[in-house]
Amino acid sequence: MDASTRALSVDRDRLVRRLLALGELGAIEGTTGCARLALTDEDKAGRDLVLTWMTDLGLDIQIDGIGNVVATMPNDSQNAPVMTGSHIDTVATGGRYDGTLGVLAGLEVIESVMAAGVDLRRPLAVGWFTDEEGARFAPDMLGSLVYVGGLSVEDALLIEDSNGVSVGSELERIGYSGPAPIPGRRPHAYVELHIEQGPILEDEGIKIGVVEGVQGISWTEVKLTGQSCHAGTTPMRLRRDPGVVASRVNVFVRELATRFGNSQVATCGVVTQVPNLVNVVPSEVTMTVDLRNTDESLLRKAEAEFHEFLKAAADAENVAVQCRQLARFEPVDFDPRVIETVERQAQGANLSSRRMPSGAGHDAQMFARVCPTGMVFDPSVDGISHNVNEFTHPDDIEAGANVLLRTMLELTETDFS
Ligand code: GLV
Ligand code: MN
Ligand code: MN
Repeated sequence: MDASTRALSVDRDRLVRRLLALGELGAIEGTTGCARLALTDEDKAGRDLVLTWMTDLGLDIQIDGIGNVVATMPNDSQNAPVMTGSHIDTVATGGRYDGTLGVLAGLEVIESVMAAGVDLRRPLAVGWFTDEEGARFAPDMLGSLVYVGGLSVEDALLIEDSNGVSVGSELERIGYSGPAPIPGRRPHAYVELHIEQGPILEDEGIKIGVVEGVQGISWTEVKLTGQSCHAGTTPMRLRRDPGVVASRVNVFVRELATRFGNSQVATCGVVTQVPNLVNVVPSEVTMTVDLRNTDESLLRKAEAEFHEFLKAAADAENVAVQCRQLARFEPVDFDPRVIETVERQAQGANLSSRRMPSGAGHDAQMFARVCPTGMVFDPSVDGISHNVNEFTHPDDIEAGANVLLRTMLELTETDFS
């Protein structure tokens, strides 16, 4: 690679403009956040916009049967691409940067390289993967899981949201079921730019996170069924209150995370009571338990303790329990050669960096199953994410995108064997 290629950089204003334009779709009124739950009309609008930009650039666009979209730059070789990407779906209270940064920075990298007329040994590709968030259809990272052959597309299409609407019917409805083969083409390497979504980089005044891996994720949905009755007339000793069990479980997993320490986290993000009325003991509670740890054996221990406690708490209240596993992914280590490349490119650009694990799930953790993979993190202001106030400074967006660009270019010349 010659010096002028190594000095290439992205167009920061174009990238920021596109991030803001995509953020207008599904915008949550009165905030800077957005709601583009997977395969909704808002997600379709986001997809259509990004697809237009990809089409305008003359990329080869492939859409598969789970609605993943991969766009590859023209290239004379038959070589597998160096791929980047992420997602454009959001949680219902999402921001403008989670996922979209990785997709639009990838597009920006390709546009900058194409504009410079650089001839590469391998093409660059950028993808977005369906339902990364898992906020509508579990598990999370659904599209990338299918892309790498971790789940059959037939099974994935049958997954339903909480209203009984399936992935398959929604994909057909929004027109994003395509013919590209599944599993998808194995990239030469995969590297993803993402916001950190946590406070560490900002707190330490560091510009680039060099991601070493992703912690393991365990999601369980718990249905607790008791007896609904009058809040004024039913003596306490005769109650079968699933709300009390849910509260105990919530406190237990918080204390478990504190006791385990290190990377262990625990969250009850959903607690829905029926009928949810001031003077009625609830009949049913649906809750979710999200446990994560970088250490697989500790994650298993946390799961075992949670299930043991759940059973004891439910028995004590004479409440029935039904559990459903929504997601379970082991911790992932990224490829040391990609990690070193990201680190080298950050250092080469005089950007401070530190190695770190990812607390959040990412499409990159699925690609790590099939090719050398790594990630780049940009700082998140106040560490806030999955929140309408999510923000990353344009300077940091530009720096991260340039590290992505140079990492991708170096990976086009790296022979892994
Ligand atoms: C996905 O964004 C997750 O980590 O929950
Ligand atoms: Mn994300
Ligand atoms: Mn997210």
